[in-house]
Amino acid sequence: MSNISTLRAQVEELRRLIRRHEYLYYVLDRPEITDAEFDKLFQRLQQLEATHPELITPDSPTQRVGGQPVEGFASVQHKAAMLSLDNAYNADELREFEARMKRALPGEHFTYVVEPKVDGLGVALLYEDGRLVRGATRGDGRYGEEVTHNLMTVRNLPRRLHGPLAKFTALEVRGEIFMWRQAFEKLNRGLETEGEEPFANPRNAAAGSVRQKDSQVTASRPLDIFIYGVSYAEPDPFRDHWRTMEQLLEAGFLLDPKDRKNTLERYRRRCADIEGAIAACLEVEAARDEIGCDCDGVVVKVDAIEQQRRLGSTTHHPRWAIAYKFPARQAISVIRKIDINVGRTGALTPTAVLDPVEIAGATISRATLHNADEIERLDVREGDTVLIERAGDVIPHILRVIQEKRPSHSKPFRFPTRCPVCGAEAFRPEGEVVSRCSNSACQARLKESVLHFGVRRAMDIEHLGEAVVEQLVDRTLVREFADLYRLDVTTLAELERLAEKSATNLYNAIQGSKGRGLSRLLFALGIRYVGEHVAEILAQHYGSMDRLEHTPEEELAEVYGIGPRIAQSVALYFRQPENRRQIEQLREVGVTMKEAGVTAGPRPLAGKTFVLTGGLETLTRDEAKDLIVRAGGRVTSSVSSKTDYVVVGSDPGSKYDDAKRLGVPTIDEAGFKKLIGKGGTP
Ligand code: IVH
Repeated sequence: MSNISTLRAQVEELRRLIRRHEYLYYVLDRPEITDAEFDKLFQRLQQLEATHPELITPDSPTQRVGGQPVEGFASVQHKAAMLSLDNAYNADELREFEARMKRALPGEHFTYVVEPKVDGLGVALLYEDGRLVRGATRGDGRYGEEVTHNLMTVRNLPRRLHGPLAKFTALEVRGEIFMWRQAFEKLNRGLETEGEEPFANPRNAAAGSVRQKDSQVTASRPLDIFIYGVSYAEPDPFRDHWRTMEQLLEAGFLLDPKDRKNTLERYRRRCADIEGAIAACLEVEAARDEIGCDCDGVVVKVDAIEQQRRLGSTTHHPRWAIAYKFPARQAISVIRKIDINVGRTGALTPTAVLDPVEIAGATISRATLHNADEIERLDVREGDTVLIERAGDVIPHILRVIQEKRPSHSKPFRFPTRCPVCGAEAFRPEGEVVSRCSNSACQARLKESVLHFGVRRAMDIEHLGEAVVEQLVDRTLVREFADLYRLDVTTLAELERLAEKSATNLYNAIQGSKGRGLSRLLFALGIRYVGEHVAEILAQHYGSMDRLEHTPEEELAEVYGIGPRIAQSVALYFRQPENRRQIEQLREVGVTMKEAGVTAGPRPLAGKTFVLTGGLETLTRDEAKDLIVRAGGRVTSSVSSKTDYVVVGSDPGSKYDDAKRLGVPTIDEAGFKKLIGKGGTP
């Protein structure tokens, strides 16, 4: 092959790879390589095209901005293209960035703003006369998906601006929707309790939550926004980036100036020259672990808007800004073994056991492999050398196998078809990614179930920890939940590492848990899709196990807040003779099967949705919520056209405005009490 045709083949291969990874990233939200790896591919293509312009084609990824919007949302054109950023990996590359600008604008001095580069979902927010009229995702950079209603549910994202910026006829604000790491982990725990697939990382969780068909789902997700620019303004008064950001924060993106130290804003710095900017970059990098959300770098921007204008952009990135990328938190190690863990629901979860390696200060010896599909997708095998990433506090995961290092005798990993603990057949329900052990009496499942039974949010049995449960199950002292209540102090004291006193404490804790009530019991039983919230609804609605046990599926599905999937799962649970027997046993040992305070009385608010705003005089928020739920209603956090009433107290927030705008009836405290049948004369 001639030189040029080898080159052409190389360029084509790079383009193919880039397109594939853009698709995985933008459309499927499922990237397979790191941003740094992607950037390398892109830069390599840019270099080849720069030295061989004859190879540039109009459809090359370097000639446009990004992937394609997903189907299902209306497509909207951004006021100005949403570009990417050029990257720098060290101080010299930042100095080179300035040198390029000095060549373009000789003799000029630049001051900078340095701010975090948040790894979330880029959005454009259009405000007209101070009102949010449109919110869109980045999409392909020119056209994005219209997700206004979903974005309206994001806390810290004002639907109305105040102050001078409210007077602008048009203002397009750019920002990144993201999730704080703690909130992300809590969300995933909740999803897992409800039997749903957890998200792989905060970025996917943020993107998945914004691209929801149902705004109520978005509203229930802990999303936040970090703003980083204005792309269009009419009229346009902005002189520098720093003041622009200050004004936006004052206009509503930061309700309380005191909040600043709790947000990403504390990492936004103004710097007098490039050396100052470099120092600021290194400072933010050193604070990387304290930031609390995923940041993959710092963005250095020329402060003066007028200079930004004269510097302009390439088709790919602005010339006045650059991303200083943090070193990736990756390492290479060898998979010694693939372990399969069996969870409470019988789910078989694979984990890679690695030769210990250090990544950013932590020793990593295990990485999650999620499920059989993931193993197949990555084609990971025991003995493989792999690239591992540790993102923040999230459990490390495997990015890819280093094929060149694969041992010659290596064989594809065969996902077990039997439970590694009890040997029963494992099955994979159609359409699901998880394989499960089919034996409900499996020791591994039993241990996890008993542990879950005792957790604080379930039956709240203190001292019932992993070591105790392990022994109770191994010694066949506990074969079902009711056995817990049959244990006496003498038996407990015989367990290893459990002295007489702690045996008594554990005994008391177990006995004391009998009266927790139906709602906690339902959650403790570990019925699929019955998390705390669903358990509460069922307990409030039916009041007793007796009534619930005998309710047919169709009737369950009619309960407000219970969808067909939950109804099916609950009905299936109560159809199993084994489950009914277990409940009977619990009843026999004296576990309460009723919810305190719930009578089968009238439910005047059945099917009604409420939003509470402002302070009530005679009730706390929680008391008001409780009254609503007990009367059959539901409380949500944001107002939509589906809201039936907004209860307005003193100093109401923006929800009051929303109610008026959407024409949702508002009632005061007296009206509310009347409605729930507790009102005297107002
Ligand atoms: S400035 C025209 N600033 O990173 C200027 N972007 O890799 C381009 N991002 O599409 C963007 N934090 O979604 C800018 N402080 C920040 C950012 C930021 C996150 C995202 C943004 C952009 C992508 C580019």
